[in-house]
Amino acid sequence: MPLFCRPAARCLLRAATSKQRSWTRCYAPGRSGSGQWLITTPIFYVNGPPHIGHLYSAVLADALHRHWELMGRDAGYFATGTDEHGLKIQMTAASAGTSPEQFCDHMSAKFRELFTQAGISYTDFIRTTEPRHKQAVEHFWTTLRDRGWLYQAHYEGWYCTVEESFLAASQVTEHLDAQGHKCMVSLETGHQVHWTKEENFMFKLSEFQEPLLKWLWESKAAITPEPFHQQVLQWLEQDLPDLSVSRDRNRLQWGIPVPDDSTQTIYVWVDALVNYLTVVGYPNTHHAWWPAACHVVGKDILKFHAIYWPALLMAVGLAPPEKIFVHSHWTVQGQKMSKSLGNVVDPGACFWRYSVDGFRYFLLRQGVPERDCDYYDEKAVKLVNSELADALGGLLNRCTAPSLNPKGSYPGFSEACFPKDPASRHGRGSSKALAEDYKLVTLVKDLPEQVSGCFERFQIYRALECIMDCVRQTNGFVQRHAPWKLCRKDPEQQQWQDTILHITLECLRIYGSLLQPVIPATADKILTRLGVNPSERSLSNLNFLSRYYGGKCPFEGRRLGPDTGLLFPKLEKQTDAAGILKY
Ligand code: ME8
Ligand code: MG
Repeated sequence: MPLFCRPAARCLLRAATSKQRSWTRCYAPGRSGSGQWLITTPIFYVNGPPHIGHLYSAVLADALHRHWELMGRDAGYFATGTDEHGLKIQMTAASAGTSPEQFCDHMSAKFRELFTQAGISYTDFIRTTEPRHKQAVEHFWTTLRDRGWLYQAHYEGWYCTVEESFLAASQVTEHLDAQGHKCMVSLETGHQVHWTKEENFMFKLSEFQEPLLKWLWESKAAITPEPFHQQVLQWLEQDLPDLSVSRDRNRLQWGIPVPDDSTQTIYVWVDALVNYLTVVGYPNTHHAWWPAACHVVGKDILKFHAIYWPALLMAVGLAPPEKIFVHSHWTVQGQKMSKSLGNVVDPGACFWRYSVDGFRYFLLRQGVPERDCDYYDEKAVKLVNSELADALGGLLNRCTAPSLNPKGSYPGFSEACFPKDPASRHGRGSSKALAEDYKLVTLVKDLPEQVSGCFERFQIYRALECIMDCVRQTNGFVQRHAPWKLCRKDPEQQQWQDTILHITLECLRIYGSLLQPVIPATADKILTRLGVNPSERSLSNLNFLSRYYGGKCPFEGRRLGPDTGLLFPKLEKQTDAAGILKY
């Protein structure tokens, strides 16, 4: 029998449908771009310093936020932060011989410093130990309880402290530890699990199986990329047991106490997920934003975001988030990053080696959300050298160099050399342009829309691929016409040389503008060199090559900005054989 027909589920479905009707009142589905978005990263555990995986999530969210802002959408709010409660932190602080408060202050600051260094343009950095968060969680909990979604029961099950998660019997297996002792571990991650037997508060998660399925059937693009959407549907076809949402306070003191029951501490994942509401002022002002939320998360925490969180939201009468963008993991030289393997990559060292923009570019260009990606030094060096230093930097350098551009200005465009009218194209009159040149112009004209589409689909790597393809073709255009061979004393040749340079600088203006969300400092360098003012860098009206399309070009004849040297200095190969930048 299809899941939807189960009688008990039907009344729930009705409940969800009527709730959904009220959800649609708080936001316009399929917003045109005028709505405000809340973009979030996961909040990171502070049991260790940040590594490149954490940085990757933050850079992805940052690029989305910057892109949406440049599109003229009010991208509004971009939140990141640290997840500080829970058994794992309590234990790590204890073994470091410090108080959890001190330990969290120290580690949280490391995340904040890294994100500042990385140019993460967050508008809010939340810590779950802040009073505003405690208030939000308490209100959330009380609402769950008052609406009848919580009950007390004896709970027995496997608990994995590293994942801060309860696992079913089917998710664990026996294992021999390093000393040869038998222990139980999580099948998926290999982390040790412990049998827990407590009186806990339970959340009636099982009652949300149908509403969740309905939500995902109706919001086909809620979870992107598609394979993760399918994965969640698969999970939902299986049993969905109720969820233990509190722990015995004797075991877990480092957390928010259950309102009106000081013997229990709120489960760290309920506490953590509510951060997305805290940042928009829950329980007072969140309606201005919710549910226009876009969560960027790693695949390891998909279940928490795509099942627990939407169910908890429905239970308090709120809609699920509009978007969950999921990404896979970085491995290092083919291996999972882990402290015990000693291959955890330090982002600070990567910035030092490749520069901030170089490493942001590497992560976003090579990181494909659908699959795990591997990092090693040689790969990063090759990529930034060939694409940023050679292809992009070389193009800018060549076309702004005094030898080719002695006046140091944005050269003029000649319709005679590059006519729009096909009848007067190559071979006729003074037209010099070839069929491939027209192809390039069309390609670059369509590029902004293509790039925006990629960002909407969470394919930033693909956006960069498209931009780089155009950069390569622009280099081909310059190479083909070899403007350095033209003689500026001959007026016709001078006009053609100027036109080649005008087109190339117009292309570079588009690339510089489109690259702002990914490599902000380098993009600024390109645009400043081209004489493009900060107010002219929005992505909503780029007006590529407007002279060719019959309009005016505000840049023509304008002085170029100062020459500040190489766009992107080439990196040397590393002599160190290991080639990994560890802690
Ligand atoms: O799970 N590659 O925090 P966490 C790519 N506090 N991304 C990676 C990665 C890797 N190798 N390793 C980690 C938690 N990440 C909870 C989240 S949210 C309400 C609470 C990124 O410190 C990725 O985004 O374990 C992953 O989901 C997140 O860091 C997990 O960070
Ligand atoms: Mg983790």
